[in-house]
Amino acid sequence: MQRLFTGLQPSGALHIGNYLGALKPTADLLAETDGLVMIADYHALTSLKDAAHMRANILSVAKDYLAAGIDPRTSVMFKQSDVPEHTELGWVFQCLVTTAFLELSHAYKDKVAKGLESNAGLFAYPMLMAADILLYDTDIVPVGQDQRQHVEYAREAAAKFNSAFGETFKEPKEMILESVATIPGTDGKKMSKSYGNTIPLFGSKDEIAKAVMGIVTDSSGDRPENVYAIHAAFRRKEDLDTLYESKKGKYKDLKEALIEDIEALVAPMREKRDSISDEDVKKVLVDGGERARERASKKMVNVKQRIGVAL
Ligand code: TYM
Repeated sequence: MQRLFTGLQPSGALHIGNYLGALKPTADLLAETDGLVMIADYHALTSLKDAAHMRANILSVAKDYLAAGIDPRTSVMFKQSDVPEHTELGWVFQCLVTTAFLELSHAYKDKVAKGLESNAGLFAYPMLMAADILLYDTDIVPVGQDQRQHVEYAREAAAKFNSAFGETFKEPKEMILESVATIPGTDGKKMSKSYGNTIPLFGSKDEIAKAVMGIVTDSSGDRPENVYAIHAAFRRKEDLDTLYESKKGKYKDLKEALIEDIEALVAPMREKRDSISDEDVKKVLVDGGERARERASKKMVNVKQRIGVAL
């Protein structure tokens, strides 16, 4: 059975880009893989410095995972901070790569360009992510396009460690579905919490409608391209083209059709999510943390022998 690993940051409400690009492909694969899904709370600490928000976001993201179809009985769902081996191995990898290599990270450069504080954690972020993935001998990492380079960094960390200390880590592969690799936001750029162009995944119907009605449309063509580009993730191309042809120029009708399509997808998940309590989630995370730690600590014993700190 292939080992699957993925994660997401509890840095705010999830949007439909997170769902379509990563959460759904993960949920679809879990039945046939040995899966681990992680809440990357220490990664979120690079930008989120508010304990109450952190706590609320962790619980909220865990509910999102469960509502999106992740079954904690067949896969391991946990939070990063419950398995200290992640930060421990992250340190080991930091000592194997150069600062020049980390400076090549697109995600780092983008975040700093957007005005995010360039703290040392943000800079070393890819090595913590490499540790997340490599601790579990992962084969596949389902993610959106924006995480491709981070998985390359993980392969590079594995290769560097293996050549310095002997074969220890497996090189993982990203799994990026082309059709949903980059879901655009309401302004046509990549949908992203930090661009303020998101359609919330578990918003109320009104919140979803408000975001969709706010999609920027350009009146120069027949087709509202920004609406079409998001809609393309919800319907087959032939269906969509027929709809857009029959509603040529009727932007409001097309936006309403998109709202209905999003609602049809989200409504059953929203209902499921409402039935999950904070207590349910905490139990799942404690259990998942224990199971993840059992595996991670075995791997770390091996790492410590390899690097010579275990006497
Ligand atoms: P994060 O929290 O930014 O995003 C979570 C997942 O959602 C995907 N995604 C998108 N996919 C398609 N279109 C979009 N507009 C879009 N926006 C976001 C992301 O690609 C990601 O798959 N570094 C990671 C979290 C992480 C991780 C890991 C992932 C930590 N450790 C180990 C995989 C394996 C991140 O910040 O994702």
